[in-house]
Amino acid sequence: MSDSGQPRFGRPFLKWAGNKYRVLKHILPQLPVGEQLIEPFAGSCAVFLNTDYPRYLISDVNPDLIRLFKILQREGELFINYAQKFFTPQNNSEQRYYQLRQQFNSTTNDRKKAALFLYLNRHCYNGLCRYNKSHQFNVPFGRYKRPYFPAREMHSFHIKAQLAEFVCQDFGKTVSQAQRSSVIYADPPYIPLNTTSRFTGYSSNGFDLNEQEELARTAEQATQRGVSVLISNHDTPFARKIYRNATLMHFNVRRSISCNGQQRNEVAELLALFESG
Ligand SMILES: C[S@@+](CC[C@H](N)C(=O)[O-])C[C@H]1O[C@@H](n2cnc3c(N)ncnc32)[C@H](O)[C@@H]1O
Repeated sequence: MSDSGQPRFGRPFLKWAGNKYRVLKHILPQLPVGEQLIEPFAGSCAVFLNTDYPRYLISDVNPDLIRLFKILQREGELFINYAQKFFTPQNNSEQRYYQLRQQFNSTTNDRKKAALFLYLNRHCYNGLCRYNKSHQFNVPFGRYKRPYFPAREMHSFHIKAQLAEFVCQDFGKTVSQAQRSSVIYADPPYIPLNTTSRFTGYSSNGFDLNEQEELARTAEQATQRGVSVLISNHDTPFARKIYRNATLMHFNVRRSISCNGQQRNEVAELLALFESG
């Protein structure tokens, strides 16, 4: 417990758009008990890090993210020490940032690419993760005084990761792998609140309304295999329509919803629970 009496949560080591760190207190009590937790939209893994299941299947469509998780899982301190070498005052300049971004985009060395992904995450503008059409990371320099190197958070991740399998694949494949007594926590890119706030900057793929419907359908089907599925999303009329057969809970959260991080609003979020019978 923290001094304020609130439970202290394990912080993800990556900055990630839409990460659920600040709303864990709403999500965690709604997660059913099970033998394995599956996260098909891993992001920074805020939920994985703060739950206590015997096993985990963690996946995401972003290959840079999953590569980093696998190397940290395998190497622990060895990789933490290697990655820290990129966090120097000399490397915190616009010129060095663009050189290292170029190295990230061109290297074929997995270990270096993983360390540079972490460097970019902590030195780029707003911790965004965005690529151009050729899958080149293209977020500009972030101008932070002293970017934080998350050694402690990486160490905790490494320990917890020994219970997990990390896979880079589309959510549909991950959901289909769920077996009886598994629990799925699905946190897809948000349904847009309106047409102008559409934000698809998580990977080079967008995530459209058809995929949102497909996720709701596969969640409902999974309950027939003994799998319970909890989905997070914005609370919109479209979300309420596609999750109409689930138990719904909602809460409000202050968060940045625009691409440039400047528009901060109170937005309503929804949790939809499809429970196995
Ligand atoms: C809202 S974020 C997840 C945030 C995460 N819960 C956290 O706490 O950091 C959504 C994630 O879905 C991933 N994603 C987008 N499209 C996907 C797809 N078709 N299949 C699997 N993952 C996808 C993105 O790469 C992004 O990491």
